[in-house]
Amino acid sequence: MAKKNTRFFCKDCGHEELRWAGKCPGCGAWNSFTEMKIETTSAKKGSRGFTSKTRDSGPVGFANKTMAAWPEAVGPDGKLRPIPLSKISSAETNRLPVEPTEVARVLGGGLVEGSVVMLGGEPGVGKSTLLTGLGLWWVHQGIRVIYVAGEESPAQIRMRAERLGFKPEKEDGFSILPEVHLETLLDALHTELQNQADGTKTIIIADSIQTLHSEHIDSYPGSPTQIKYCGGVLADFARRTGCPIFLVGHVTKSGDLAGPKLLEHMVDTVLYFEGSGGGPIRMVRAVKNRFGTTGELAVMEMRGDGLFPVDQAGVLFLSGRRGGEPGSAVCAVKNGSRTFLVEVQALVSPSRYGTPQRVVQGVDNKRVALLAAILEKRAGLDLGGCDVFVKVAGGGRIDDPGADLAIMAALASSLREKPVPLDTLVLGEVGLTGEVRGVSDLESRLREAGRHGFKRVVMADPNPGGKLNARLKGSKMQLITVTSVEEAVALAVHPGAFDEARQEG
Ligand code: TYD
Ligand code: MG
Repeated sequence: MAKKNTRFFCKDCGHEELRWAGKCPGCGAWNSFTEMKIETTSAKKGSRGFTSKTRDSGPVGFANKTMAAWPEAVGPDGKLRPIPLSKISSAETNRLPVEPTEVARVLGGGLVEGSVVMLGGEPGVGKSTLLTGLGLWWVHQGIRVIYVAGEESPAQIRMRAERLGFKPEKEDGFSILPEVHLETLLDALHTELQNQADGTKTIIIADSIQTLHSEHIDSYPGSPTQIKYCGGVLADFARRTGCPIFLVGHVTKSGDLAGPKLLEHMVDTVLYFEGSGGGPIRMVRAVKNRFGTTGELAVMEMRGDGLFPVDQAGVLFLSGRRGGEPGSAVCAVKNGSRTFLVEVQALVSPSRYGTPQRVVQGVDNKRVALLAAILEKRAGLDLGGCDVFVKVAGGGRIDDPGADLAIMAALASSLREKPVPLDTLVLGEVGLTGEVRGVSDLESRLREAGRHGFKRVVMADPNPGGKLNARLKGSKMQLITVTSVEEAVALAVHPGAFDEARQEG
């Protein structure tokens, strides 16, 4: 029997409540609750199981109609039983190749069979372009691609593919399924897989999850319940058939994966596709990955004929840098296994208004407030009556604590009107007592900086009192080691003082 119920969902994070609330207990957003009718079919007595018979009776599990449960999990009596771990082959985590290698790295080295990847990003950032490009490359490798078109007509997708260099005679394995009704879609996918059971791998791209809807859910497409349900059913489909599925999800203005946030726990990998400062640069980062590390970053450029990996991505954020200006410091930050040289800019000027302003872009503003407080207390800089602006040049974003010292050097440099020399790198994490700490993977950071013409680095002593390891000793850069912020700031704006001090000592 069908029973109508209403629930309230937060539009920002998908948190569910039985009653309306002004403030979401999940994410703290105000006035974000929306009412949703949900229809539940009451289970028949004894039908709350997992056997294929009962799975057919309710809305959940109809994906199973044409497919048995895991064959190993079905005992001789036809009932479900646990599968011994030793009987499960690890070959199930086969990886399909991915090109460009930038994207493969973010996925953890390839696309795992049967995995579900969600690709989130703002409308227009290039999600469909990225997936169409990947799809065309896969069909060249003999992998079939089924593109579920919920947002665009097949003709629009063909036009996009042509911009990306589609060759009709060679790329026949790329097909479009223009359907948004989940049940019809699954039927079509099952039939397609059965008809084409020739061992060819198939990858499914669902663009987008917000357009799909199931007849078992009584709410509009894109609502949290629809997204949750459709996503769950597709994830189940991927795991049972071994076909990897990409789910495209739009994000809200605030940068959250709105409805799709609900899917994060169901999918294996969550990729974020973002632009940088309105330019052609696009970045894909993994925020969750069951088959690889998070923090990896793929940097690409959107051109007229598709997305291309960026050469020299390591210095991407330094382009357009001028020398000799106060208020700029460069550090080397890690994003997964990649190293990027990033310029932090600061502007400190006496405030003309009652309350000094603090405006920050590309770094967490609380972190800047903390670093400014340390500068005041430990290095004796007076920022109290000043407006403070901090920005990461080139639209980059820094989470790496190794950039602390560079942010402070930029602030001090602007306040004192003394530039940090163009060839000086500033590296280090700073503690509340003003101590400068070392950073992870120092060698690769120095290597990247050395390769791009940096001559000296102000940093923490990597091995206080001891010897430098051979690799660091061999570095062509001059290593200026410091222990406190005060010392670091003084040397960053005047590294010559280091040589003078050495000559004296
Ligand atoms: P699209 O992939 O449709 O974005 P999304 O799926 O994330 O909404 O791409 C949107 C933009 O990309 C569009 O403004 C046009 C631009 N674009 C290019 O610059 N080059 C290309 O080769 C293609 C296909 C699109
Ligand atoms: Mg799109």
